[in-house]
Amino acid sequence: MADKQLNVLSICGSLRKGSYNGIVQRALPALAPEGMKIIVAPSFADFPLYNADVQNASGFPASVSKFADAIRAADGVIFNTPEYNFSIPGGLKNAIDWVSRLPNQPFAGKPIALQSATMGQLGGGRVQYDLRRAMVFLDALVLNKPEVFIGAAQTKVNEQTGELTDEMARNFIKQQLAAFAKFIVRHGGQG
Ligand SMILES: Cc1cc2nc3c(=O)[nH]c(=O)nc-3n(C[C@H](O)[C@H](O)[C@H](O)COP(=O)(O)O)c2cc1C
Repeated sequence: MADKQLNVLSICGSLRKGSYNGIVQRALPALAPEGMKIIVAPSFADFPLYNADVQNASGFPASVSKFADAIRAADGVIFNTPEYNFSIPGGLKNAIDWVSRLPNQPFAGKPIALQSATMGQLGGGRVQYDLRRAMVFLDALVLNKPEVFIGAAQTKVNEQTGELTDEMARNFIKQQLAAFAKFIVRHGGQG
């Protein structure tokens, strides 16, 4: 395990207030191993649609730079995302597209873990493959296993309290976060 604290950033792919992925994201700090601190990324909700003309005319929006800086400052990044039409939600893909155009592209060499929650039974099996593919292009390092897929998420949370209640899901996450801490250290993160 790391000697120094590992600072991890979580990015939620859903903009919905009651998001199940948001619930999972907010559960992470309590499930993290000792020595891992997990904070929520700045919002990408106000990013304009990526357009190279906008970038060329007025540069990168301040919110894009802030989001990218948070990724750069982190020892690792966790995506908490739903699957939209078997793929990456448009808002999240737009955020990835914006930061991918920055000099010193923030995902390069960055340890990444994937977690998805959906109302469907498969829990986001396809979105994870698409995210892995995008992360390969951006030269990130994605943890292979253990995987975290939370299917039928509506049955695994308490929407009133905003808690992830399913013990099996909580255990899978704990195991992944423990493996992610080792993965970060192995790949030259803090430690
Ligand atoms: C545009 C859209 C596309 C969706 N496509 C899928 C899909 O491909 N697979 C799936 O399991 N669920 C799909 N769903 C259902 C989501 O799993 C469900 O809305 C989930 O609650 C979204 O995550 P959130 O609660 O974090 O917002 C889709 C939902 C939306 C709004």
